[in-house]
Amino acid sequence: MSWINYFRTWARKYDEETSSYGYDPNRLIKPFLHLIGKRKQGLDVGCGTGLSLKVIETFCEKIVGIEPVEKMAKQAESKGFQVLRMKGEDLGQIKTKFDFISFFASIDYLDSSVAIKGLKNIITEDVVVFITIEPENKSSVVLKFLKNGFLVKKSITKRAYEGQNYVCVLFEKVKGYKEKKSSKDL
Ligand SMILES: C[S@@+](CC[C@H](N)C(=O)[O-])C[C@H]1O[C@@H](n2cnc3c(N)ncnc32)[C@H](O)[C@@H]1O
Repeated sequence: MSWINYFRTWARKYDEETSSYGYDPNRLIKPFLHLIGKRKQGLDVGCGTGLSLKVIETFCEKIVGIEPVEKMAKQAESKGFQVLRMKGEDLGQIKTKFDFISFFASIDYLDSSVAIKGLKNIITEDVVVFITIEPENKSSVVLKFLKNGFLVKKSITKRAYEGQNYVCVLFEKVKGYKEKKSSKDL
């Protein structure tokens, strides 16, 4: 089963089940809030039913979510959030610039190389990107961010719920980073 189909089947019970095992996105981002500060325009990739949007609305003036699973997106909309029906892999097509981007429990389920490459089209110079990721996927994903002009500002491992730790990482952009041209572009 693809991840998208997996989340389609889970959508209806997602809020009930995640709350029963104590998943709390607020707890994961709390140690980073002093570094994030107040933000103008936030994007939450794989926003699901809006649990993570609820957290980022506390420090972003405007927010939007991306979610490919209709039953998830509808629930986030019913909580008052704006949601684009889109995969994270297509985020580079969005026409807005964001100074905060999050992947709460979502980067493990998408093609992170494609999503991270797309980021360069939609970020401001002072952007920060927050991810939560399963420990076994951390090294490869962090390396992709580093290769695409980001630096790790802070990284910690937190217990997300019984039996699951997440590595939580905040990235910032390398100042003045210029995209290297590949031989194909020359
Ligand atoms: C574990 S849930 C996390 C939802 C929400 N961020 C939260 O913290 O509650 C993962 C979400 O990623 C979404 N997802 C799966 N594949 C995706 C993709 N290719 N692009 C964007 N989101 C995706 C799923 O539909 C699901 O809503």
